[in-house]
Amino acid sequence: MGLLYKAVLRPLLFRMDPERAHHSVKRVLAFAQNSSVVKDFVGRIFSHAWSKPVRLGKLAFPNPIGLAGGFDKDAELVGILPALGFGFIEVGTITPEPQPGNVVPRLFRIPENLAVLNRMGFNNCGVRGAAEHLKKFPNSPVPIGVNIGKGVSTPLEEAAQDYLTCFKALFYFADYFVFNISSPNTAELKRLHEPARLRNLLATVALENENRKTNAKPLFIKISPDLSEEELSAVVRIACEYRAGIVCSNTTVKRDGLSPAWETETGGLSGRPLRDMSTRMIQRIKQISDGKIPIIGVGGVFTAEDAREKLEAGADLVQVYTGLIYEGPGIVKSILKGLA
Ligand SMILES: Cc1cc2nc3c(=O)[nH]c(=O)nc-3n(C[C@H](O)[C@H](O)[C@H](O)COP(=O)(O)O)c2cc1C
Repeated sequence: MGLLYKAVLRPLLFRMDPERAHHSVKRVLAFAQNSSVVKDFVGRIFSHAWSKPVRLGKLAFPNPIGLAGGFDKDAELVGILPALGFGFIEVGTITPEPQPGNVVPRLFRIPENLAVLNRMGFNNCGVRGAAEHLKKFPNSPVPIGVNIGKGVSTPLEEAAQDYLTCFKALFYFADYFVFNISSPNTAELKRLHEPARLRNLLATVALENENRKTNAKPLFIKISPDLSEEELSAVVRIACEYRAGIVCSNTTVKRDGLSPAWETETGGLSGRPLRDMSTRMIQRIKQISDGKIPIIGVGGVFTAEDAREKLEAGADLVQVYTGLIYEGPGIVKSILKGLA
C-alpha cells in the first residue's frame, strides 16, 4: 500500500498546491464517510489487528497510533478517520469563533527533508461549527481528542476564557481535551507556557472540569519543542499539579538541516527534522514527572522504529501528521505491523 501511494498517488498530490491537495484528500474522505459500504471497504484495507490496547484512566485506545491535531481542524471527518486504522483522533485546533487563518500560501512541503512548514494560523469553523460536525458521528470506535485554542484577536490576559468557552461548548463530544499553547502561528500564544499564565489557564478549566465530577475529562497541554530546560521543567511541574498530560510536541521554529532559503519563511516545521527533538523532550518529561502524567508523543513519526523510539522514551501514545503526507494512508497499519 505504501509503495502504491508513493508511486502513484503521492506524485499526483505533490504536483498540486499543498493546501489544495489537503482539501482534495478531505473531499475524498468526506465522500467515503457518507457511504457505509465504502467505509467498511476502507476499514478492511487499512485496519490492523492489535492485541495490546492502551488504557489511560477511563479511556481505552484500541492501538497507540493516533492522528495529530491540525489535519481535521473542523472535526468533519471523525466518521471515517478511524477506518484508516488510527487508535484515536485529535480534531482542531478549534477556537471560540470561526476564523480564516493567515493569508495563503501558508503550507509548504520540503520533500528533501521529509518535512512540512505551516503557518496556517488556526483556520477553523469555531466551536458551533465543530459541534454541528461532531454531533453527526456519535459513538466513535476510538477516543476523540478535542484540541482547543485562543482566538487570534483575544488578548493574552483573556485567553483562559477562550479555552473555557471551547471546553464548555465541546465537552459532550470530547473524550479528552488538548490545550494548544504552542502553535507558533498565533501571536503571543506561546507565552501561555509562562508559569503564571499556564496556572491561570489550568485553574480556570480544571475547576470547571472538576465540577463535572465523574464525567471530568482528561486534560492535556500541547507544548512547544523550543522550550529551554528551565521552561520545560516549570511546565511539567505545573502539569503534574493539575494532573494534566502533555502532548509533546507542536512544530518547531528552528530550521536545523534545512536549506537557507527556509530561514526567512515563517511558520512551524514538522516531520523528520523534529523527530529527535521531540523524542528527547519526551524523555525529559518522563523523568521530571516521574511517570505520573500521561504523555502523547508526536513529531516526525514515519515508521515503526520512529514510533518505538517515542514509546521507549516514555510516551503512552503516539501521533502522526507529516508522516501521513509522506507515507500515505497505510502508515498506521505499517507502524502497527512493525511494532507487533
Ligand atoms: C499543516 C499542519 C497543521 C497543523 N495544525 C495544527 C493545529 O491546528 N493544532 C495543533 O495542535 N497542531 C497542529 N499541527 C502540529 C501537529 O499536530 C504536530 O504536532 C506536528 O506537525 C508534529 O508532528 P508531525 O511531525 O507528525 O507532523 C499542524 C501541523 C501541520 C503540518
